[in-house]
Amino acid sequence: MSRQAVLVTRRIPSSVVARLEERCAVDIHGGPGAMPRDEMKARLAGKQALMCVLTDHVDGDVLDAGPDLRVVANIAVGYDNIDLAAARSRGIVVTNTPDVLTEATADLTWGLILAVTRRIAEGERLVRRGGWEGWALDFMLGSGLGGKQLGIVGLGRIGRAVAVRAGAFGMRVAFTTLESGAAADHAGDGSWTPLSLDALLSTSDVVSFHVPLTPATRHLIDRRAILRMKRRAYLVNTSRGPVIDEAALAWALREGLIAGAALDVYEDEPRVHPELVGLEHVVLAPHLGSATVETRTAMADLAARNVLAVLAGAPALTPVTG
Ligand code: GLV
Repeated sequence: MSRQAVLVTRRIPSSVVARLEERCAVDIHGGPGAMPRDEMKARLAGKQALMCVLTDHVDGDVLDAGPDLRVVANIAVGYDNIDLAAARSRGIVVTNTPDVLTEATADLTWGLILAVTRRIAEGERLVRRGGWEGWALDFMLGSGLGGKQLGIVGLGRIGRAVAVRAGAFGMRVAFTTLESGAAADHAGDGSWTPLSLDALLSTSDVVSFHVPLTPATRHLIDRRAILRMKRRAYLVNTSRGPVIDEAALAWALREGLIAGAALDVYEDEPRVHPELVGLEHVVLAPHLGSATVETRTAMADLAARNVLAVLAGAPALTPVTG
């Protein structure tokens, strides 16, 4: 009987390739960027598993190119790039990589909060272009965090890890789960305040987004929502770009309706709304939430273990159930 085969759409650590090769044939995209869709479809023929990333759009058309597919293992916690209904109707298991990236993403979120409130990126740009004229008492003043409110939108694993870190900076935590009656009453041992989205937006000094991208969260933040925010508030997004209407955000920043924004994700990556690029009070990171050697290795490894489990007829370790 021929060995089972997996198609991997991006380069992955050699230790993970070795794990896969112990039990199946591995076909890996060798190029530096994304695997073109047509190539992915062509190479899916005869494969039982697909290991893909968030830039691969895996819909019914792609799945039909792999009639033997049994598992699609996304190397990401988010899975909005995969048509779950299409996979389910074809009996294909979909898996993601929760937990292993929680701390790295929470750390990056705090890096962005500090970068935007203390104007670190803006100052760095100034130094590099030779524009720094020396220390002054009133030079490049940012905003302190102590005693202020951090509003967490989406209290999942990453939202909680971001909230836990707030204590180190003396911030109060408020959160919204977006689900009425969600069981988060004792969040933070009861010290984190549950609020409606509108109340959270109108009372928080920093608002940080940690929701999955779904039809309900697409453009959750539009002009109307931004108008609820305090004029001195900062918006931070490390979830998915389309959660924020970028044109509305650019408008709000241009009009001075909020103090600043820090983004790791965008509506149409790697394109960034041109107006945001020109604004000093915006920090723009290139989707680095989970980008540490340790975390990316752990993500690829978890995806590989999911593939091997399903191909061995065992339950997936981290199946997507949503
Ligand atoms: C990254 O954005 C992920 O979903 O893992």
